[in-house]
Amino acid sequence: MMPCNPTLSFAPALRVVMGFKSLFAAVALVTAASAQLSGSVGPTTPLSQKSHMCNVLDYGGSVGSSDIGPAITSAFNNCVLKNSGSTLYVPAGNYNMATWVDLKGGTKWAFRLDGFITRTATTGGNMIAIETANDFEFYSANSAGGIQGHGYQCRNAGPRLIRIVNSQNWSIHDLVLVDSPEFHLVIQAGQNGEIYNLAIRGANIGGSDGVDVWGTNYWIHDVEVTNRDECVTVKSPANNILIERIWCNQSGGSAIGSLSDGTAIEDVIYRNIYTNGGNQAFMIKSNLGSGYVRNVQFQNFISRGTAYGLDINQYWSSQSPGTGAGVELSNITFSNWDGNVVDGVARPPIQLICADGAPCHGITLSNVNMWSQTNKAVVKCESAYGSGLSCIKGGSSYTSYAIVTQSATQPPGYSTPTTLAGDLASGFATNAAIPTPTIPTTFYPGLPQISPLAKNQ
Ligand SMILES: *[C@@H]1O[C@H](CO)[C@@H](O)[C@H](O)[C@H]1NC(C)=O
Ligand SMILES: *[C@@H]1O[C@H](CO)[C@@H](O)[C@H](O)[C@H]1NC(C)=O
Ligand SMILES: *[C@@H]1O[C@H](CO)[C@@H](O)[C@H](O)[C@H]1NC(C)=O
Repeated sequence: MMPCNPTLSFAPALRVVMGFKSLFAAVALVTAASAQLSGSVGPTTPLSQKSHMCNVLDYGGSVGSSDIGPAITSAFNNCVLKNSGSTLYVPAGNYNMATWVDLKGGTKWAFRLDGFITRTATTGGNMIAIETANDFEFYSANSAGGIQGHGYQCRNAGPRLIRIVNSQNWSIHDLVLVDSPEFHLVIQAGQNGEIYNLAIRGANIGGSDGVDVWGTNYWIHDVEVTNRDECVTVKSPANNILIERIWCNQSGGSAIGSLSDGTAIEDVIYRNIYTNGGNQAFMIKSNLGSGYVRNVQFQNFISRGTAYGLDINQYWSSQSPGTGAGVELSNITFSNWDGNVVDGVARPPIQLICADGAPCHGITLSNVNMWSQTNKAVVKCESAYGSGLSCIKGGSSYTSYAIVTQSATQPPGYSTPTTLAGDLASGFATNAAIPTPTIPTTFYPGLPQISPLAKNQ
């Protein structure tokens, strides 16, 4: 049996997957995520072992500061890097920030951001970059810390909010990220990370990505995103990624992509994904290119009022074409979907447009009940092989075929999708400040969050 500490008295410090060897080393905090992951995720030591406090107020910072950046850098260089087992602490209160920080090479440390930081400079890059961290936890203990990017002042001409680069054994949780001029959270390579309990609120415009992730062995859960671009999206290369209990609350929708030459993505599960409005319930997007996406499952999706529904588009015109003949998609299963699109004739609730130069195969739809708010819909397939849709072809000889459009009837299992209290009716304006949300405690209808908010522990 799994040893399990039901009280979870610290923020989750160690997650162990069934069968993983450190199960037997099991110290205390152990949660089975899924055999999907290839090992434990999150920091290797708990916050109780990061008790050396490096408070920005002792390193030149002050509450109400016009630029807290230098104090963060100083606390990191002069305290965190000099004392293993440290916590860089930004106490509750409001701060402005004009100098971006790049915190490199910390081991066995935490960044506790209880304060709320507002961007004031328009320098590009990342307001907070964490590089090559190991055994690291980035969080707020009051579940109210975070960053206001005021992107409306410098749309697509300013920084990302947070980027975690080549880091290992880490987590980020209980943060609020608002209106980034560019993307909100980028996870660039690295491994063994856990990302959870986040509220991300961008404007109703492209370039406002919520979470973009690539790397190895990541567990992303209980994240809410409002914007008009990526909700939680996997990019290449990536493997052993588990994404669950995601609320795309008037967001562009989640995706895998954009994919081009040399794509390498495998062993990904998305499950319990709720999407209200936006561009798609889920999209795999590429334009020619090479490589593969394989062994992926999409389970339990609820979506309402999206433009597209289940959308594979390997001729996605918003992307410049790769040089290869197509990214090969195979062994991809969609099960238990309930959703509707706005106008199922203009934009199909299901389309599988695969590359003629690399027909997709092993595409299985099971209990996928996607329909249209107009009660009329078509489905489209091109060079797609598998089962579970009228226009998909069976067999094991995968030759290309031209696009087929068929009129569809309402799937027998379709029911008007469940809603979550607090769904946004529309996105946020692009020309005015966006109000700061609180982090929800549920992200998918009928399911609680997996770990309680830090402030409730
Ligand atoms: C990260 O954690 C794993 C599992 O506990 C461990 O094997 C690995 O050595 C750690 N990485 C580093 C850089 O310490
Ligand atoms: C298909 O993918 C699933 C995981 O999604 C995996 O368990 C299975 O082994 C894969 N099948 C093949 C033939 O690779
Ligand atoms: C989702 O949108 C609703 C409606 O505005 C809002 O009340 C709720 O806070 C949003 N969720 C989050 C966590 O931003």
